Amino acid sequence: METDTLNLYLFRKDASFDYLYPDHIKELSQMHWTPVDIAKKAAFFLAIPNARVLDIGSGVGKFCITAGAHFPDTQFIGIEQRKELCTYAEVAKDEISLDNVSFIHGNLTDLDYDDYDHFYFYNSFYENIEPGSRIDYAVRTSFELYERYTRFVYAMLGAKKSGTRLVTYHARDTQIPPSYNLVDNNYNKLLKMWIKK
Ligand SMILES: C[S@@+](CC[C@H](N)C(=O)[O-])C[C@H]1O[C@@H](n2cnc3c(N)ncnc32)[C@H](O)[C@@H]1O
Repeated sequence: METDTLNLYLFRKDASFDYLYPDHIKELSQMHWTPVDIAKKAAFFLAIPNARVLDIGSGVGKFCITAGAHFPDTQFIGIEQRKELCTYAEVAKDEISLDNVSFIHGNLTDLDYDDYDHFYFYNSFYENIEPGSRIDYAVRTSFELYERYTRFVYAMLGAKKSGTRLVTYHARDTQIPPSYNLVDNNYNKLLKMWIKK
């Protein structure tokens, strides 16, 4: 298949996109990875030309890859603590040859946030407080980690400059500093678009 035809097919629906991953990753899709329609909507808001957008907890890269394929003038970077998921993200990205998408294996607390302009956040810490939503046992989870990561992201967002854009999916408003204005929402308020005052 031609690359353009392949890409159009991939982003038509989730089942087509998830074909990029092995079965045990596909099975996690509905609960843990951003649906392609939602990723497109979020990316539309975040895709400022020449900006660098960070997915805070990028999983197997579904948001970054969908966003990068639709908005080639913006860089989409993911940080992911699980090495296995990061590897699947790299493999999927290489499959569709995107040079504006990259992934970092590591903990989000170790990044230099001066390198990023805008952010996507799909309630990445929830598995710390809801054992039923655990992705796997590759990392430790706890209430303390939930608190620590939530406080970290809150402080990081609070320190960004005016005009910083943020999209949250399934996140609580209390996780976002009051310096961010809610400017739009979709999918019954599950997807929220924010801009820092
Ligand atoms: C709900 S999934 C979302 C994945 C991706 N953003 C998407 O929308 O398809 C959240 C991801 O955040 C990752 N994560 C959670 N805490 C993290 C941390 N402290 N540092 C890096 N990644 C983290 C998890 O391992 C998981 O893969």
